[in-house]
Amino acid sequence: MRVADSIEDPSAPEVRRLALDMIDTMRDAPGIGLAAPQVHIPLRMVIYYVPEGRDEEGEGHPLTILINPEITVLDPALETGAEGCLSLPGMVGSVPRPQHIAVKAFDLDGQVQEYEAMGYHARVIQHECDHLDGIIYPMRMTDLSSLGYVEEMTGHDE
Ligand code: NI
Repeated sequence: MRVADSIEDPSAPEVRRLALDMIDTMRDAPGIGLAAPQVHIPLRMVIYYVPEGRDEEGEGHPLTILINPEITVLDPALETGAEGCLSLPGMVGSVPRPQHIAVKAFDLDGQVQEYEAMGYHARVIQHECDHLDGIIYPMRMTDLSSLGYVEEMTGHDE
C-alpha cells in the first residue's frame, strides 16, 4: 500500500466534498472512523468520532476531520485494546498503542488544530492515521492469536 499524499489546500472545496462523502460512508458502514485511502483517495485526511460511553471518561468526542495530521507520542507506555476496521469487516484484534498523544492537523477552514488525546480516543486517532501510511491494525499486533472474527470472540461489542 502506498503512503498517502499531503493535501496542499485544506480549505479547497473538493477537500470539503471528500470529507462530506467520507462522513456518509462512515455513517452507512457504520463505523467510528475512516481514512481517505479506505475510499481509494490517496490523500492525508481522516475523520472520526468517539461515541459517548466508549472512552474512559464516557464523554466521547465529536465528529472531527483531520487533514495532514501529525501525531506526537507524549507517553510511550503501551496499552492493549480491541480494534476493528471497516477494511477488515467482521474482524477484531488486540493492538498495543501509546495511550497519550498530541495531534496537530488542519481543519476544513485551513486552520491548525492542536490537542491531546488519551486512552480510547488516542487509539482511534492512531488507528485512522495509520491508514495514511498503509498500515492496518494487524501490522501493529504483537499477539496474532487474538485476531479473529467478532462472532468467534467473546466479550467484544465491536
Ligand atoms: Ni481502519
